[in-house]
Amino acid sequence: MDELMERAVDTTAREEDSSNDGAELRGSSFDYLTQPGIDLAAKAQAFHAWAQTRVSHGVFPYAKRLGGRPGATAELTLLDGQRHAGLNFSSQEYLSLARHPKVCAAAQAAMERYGVHSAGSTALAGNVEEAVALEAELGELLRTPEVLLFPTGWAAGFGAIKGLVREADHIVIDQLAHNCLHEGARAATPNIHLHRHLDIDHVERLLKRVRQRDPHNGILVVTEGCFSMDADSPDIRRLQALAREHGALLMVDVAHDLGCLGLGGGGQLALQGMLGQVDLVMGSFSKTFASNGGFVASHDRAIKEYLRFYAAPNTFSNALSPVQVAIIRACLAIVRSSEGQDRRERLMRAILGLRGALTEQGVTVLGHPSPIVPVMLGHDAVARVASREMSEAGLLANLVEYPAVSLNSARLRMQVMADHTPALAQTAARIVADSLQRARHVVSPSSKEYLGRSPEGTAMLAASSREHIASAGRLGSGPALGPNAQQ
Ligand SMILES: Cc1ncc(COP(=O)(O)O)c(C=O)c1O
Repeated sequence: MDELMERAVDTTAREEDSSNDGAELRGSSFDYLTQPGIDLAAKAQAFHAWAQTRVSHGVFPYAKRLGGRPGATAELTLLDGQRHAGLNFSSQEYLSLARHPKVCAAAQAAMERYGVHSAGSTALAGNVEEAVALEAELGELLRTPEVLLFPTGWAAGFGAIKGLVREADHIVIDQLAHNCLHEGARAATPNIHLHRHLDIDHVERLLKRVRQRDPHNGILVVTEGCFSMDADSPDIRRLQALAREHGALLMVDVAHDLGCLGLGGGGQLALQGMLGQVDLVMGSFSKTFASNGGFVASHDRAIKEYLRFYAAPNTFSNALSPVQVAIIRACLAIVRSSEGQDRRERLMRAILGLRGALTEQGVTVLGHPSPIVPVMLGHDAVARVASREMSEAGLLANLVEYPAVSLNSARLRMQVMADHTPALAQTAARIVADSLQRARHVVSPSSKEYLGRSPEGTAMLAASSREHIASAGRLGSGPALGPNAQQ
């Protein structure tokens, strides 16, 4: 019997067991965040030892390395050196622009003109001419003209909040908002009011209460256009109206929807008829725009210039490189063109195909159609085993577990791109269902039956995945390896 499976069964049968057996399926990174003690290095070592145990059992699907471009098929090297090639649902490449000829040509032209270094922050002398053009073009798409660029999306979220909000001010924020938003809030003020996910009535009650108790200080309401773990969206119109009513500002993070959803690529703001009507829009270029970088947009020139000097991740960090700026501009031009609309339509067909195929296979899919397709895996131990099985069967997708989501509601975050075909989505869905079923069986406390690690079904799925990779290879976009290739 496979050693890991044996332990999985053992572990669940003896939950109180304090030995190290089965440690790869127990615990979470949260345990190593809260350890007391004077020795800082020891805390790192404790985490590293736990992570290494998981690595050695093939259930630590993090820190993987790409062996080529992030296409519809790809090759990843795991921390233990194994290389898995397969159907790639683990890259944030929503419109498949990473190798677009116009994007690559723009990067090369920028390199010729500027070299590769921004050599300073935007507060000093690091902004290139093209960055100013990018700010204006992005402002047109958003109908929100005052755009400030940041080195990353994380820096934009953190920097906008910490840059605008002072200690006496208040933040009302969705409990599931992205880490950069919560970290920014924590750094800015102790007055943080969490609201239940997407619950606008709760927001209203909080705003009323805060305003009654404190009529003298500012309030920032923070949410996302498309939540990155749940693929759902708030009622932005109502949130903005409530913010106005209570003398607050609203900020919406559109990292996962701008460019890839909505008419003209206007994202959730376009879908909800709110383009140009939100106080602050913040986003990232790392999903649809094939680059690093982020931005904050508003209608107020003063806010833009204030953030340039008070948002530390902008003020004290080098500006986006000229190459990144040129890439983002080229992607933005495609997003706004008929080609962009065509790519969005292909993307949506792939999203609907994947969601439909998963549902048909009896797998629970969360949220609404968006490039993020969250698949509920459930118990963290089951999810770890299922994730390993999938990867070995030729499906590359990211596992998300506690504390990124609540305990034992681990999920697979599948990220779809325009280059995914419906046939590829069908194969991916079969691999997910098959792997999950087998993982549930071996990890469930009620089951002792071992189904084997690579039964006929998995072999067939792996072959099917290999077939997709081979045809992608014939088209010049896939890796040469088959699934389970090892170094
Ligand atoms: C909702 C959201 N906001 C911000 C970010 C940070 O973006 P970046 O990768 O550009 O730092 C992410 C990325 O994971 C995200 O999901």
